[in-house]
Amino acid sequence: MDSLQDLRARHLDSIAGAETESDLEAARLAAFGRKSGEIGQRLSQLGGMDPGERKRIAPQLNRIKDEILAAIGERKSELAESALDARIAGERQDVTLPGRHRRCGSVHPVSQVIEEVTAIFADLGFEVAEGPQIEEDWYNFDALNIPPEHPARQEHDTFFVRHSAAGDGQPNVLRTHTSPVQIRAMREKGAPIRVIAPGRVYRCDYDQTHTPMFHQIEGLAIDRDISMAHLKWTLEEFCRAFFEVEKAELRFRASHFPFTEPSAEVDLRCSWEDGRLKVGEGDDWMEILGSGMVHPNVLKAGGVDPDQWQGFAFGIGIDRLAMLKYGVPDLRSFFESDIRWLRHYGFHPLDIPALHSGLSR
Ligand code: DAH
Repeated sequence: MDSLQDLRARHLDSIAGAETESDLEAARLAAFGRKSGEIGQRLSQLGGMDPGERKRIAPQLNRIKDEILAAIGERKSELAESALDARIAGERQDVTLPGRHRRCGSVHPVSQVIEEVTAIFADLGFEVAEGPQIEEDWYNFDALNIPPEHPARQEHDTFFVRHSAAGDGQPNVLRTHTSPVQIRAMREKGAPIRVIAPGRVYRCDYDQTHTPMFHQIEGLAIDRDISMAHLKWTLEEFCRAFFEVEKAELRFRASHFPFTEPSAEVDLRCSWEDGRLKVGEGDDWMEILGSGMVHPNVLKAGGVDPDQWQGFAFGIGIDRLAMLKYGVPDLRSFFESDIRWLRHYGFHPLDIPALHSGLSR
């Protein structure tokens, strides 16, 4: 039989050498297992010893037992700690790694300009109104003071849709302008009202400056005493904000639209430097929109009493605004869906136009 010291050394060695929890459990069983545990066996032999020997051996054996138990406990917590360390190391994420590069889509200049114009007019108290792109003939023409025999109908190069949704024999049209939204908004909300209506419009026309689908923004402000002066101030504020300049000067030219009286076409003072537009200075004038005081017949069609209410309306071509502001030479390129074009002229989707942060950064 081993001496007590050998016994002690052997068990402490195998505990210290345990690399896993199951190694350690095996070492524990070798010392204290119910059947074959050596220390346990030695302890149970104490009872059969003569008293002198027992007195000598028992304290030594008990000390060794305590020492081995303590060593087991210590090794156990060391193993648990290094298991935890290993797990943490395995799950470690390097948060300093740069994010994975993903292709990011971009915002089309037309959408960008719609956002910009909407932000400017929202600041002036206008809300956004909508109407259908397949429009009833009545809303697109009659309600806007364009009766069936009116020559303006020919000028609009209208796309007709054969069957009327209303089933009244009247043709539907692809709306030729956003002006019908004036009627829908007045009928829905009544007066006073301040709305803008951005959207798609359609005309049968195609060249460098015309596409069969394009975009307009309609504006409408009705109240008890709105005048041309309010219209001029509003449009000047708009141009200043939109072209991001200190000063914008407008010129009103008498014109004719069936839905406004008086009517004006509005020109913006500008100059051209190396083919790029400079707004607010120079000797050129550029036509940017049509406008006027809403015709009494149009108010009536919108269910608004012209003896009590009056106001202004205007219509702007969005695509043209985008071409002017962002230097796009050909209107047709807007609708060709060329990804290289969009990468060049597009905007970052997270740069949302707002007046306080700058419209186009
Ligand atoms: N609807 C006209 C067009 O498409 C633009 C327009 C002119 C709208 C004058 C208006 C306006 O509201 O007052 O050519």
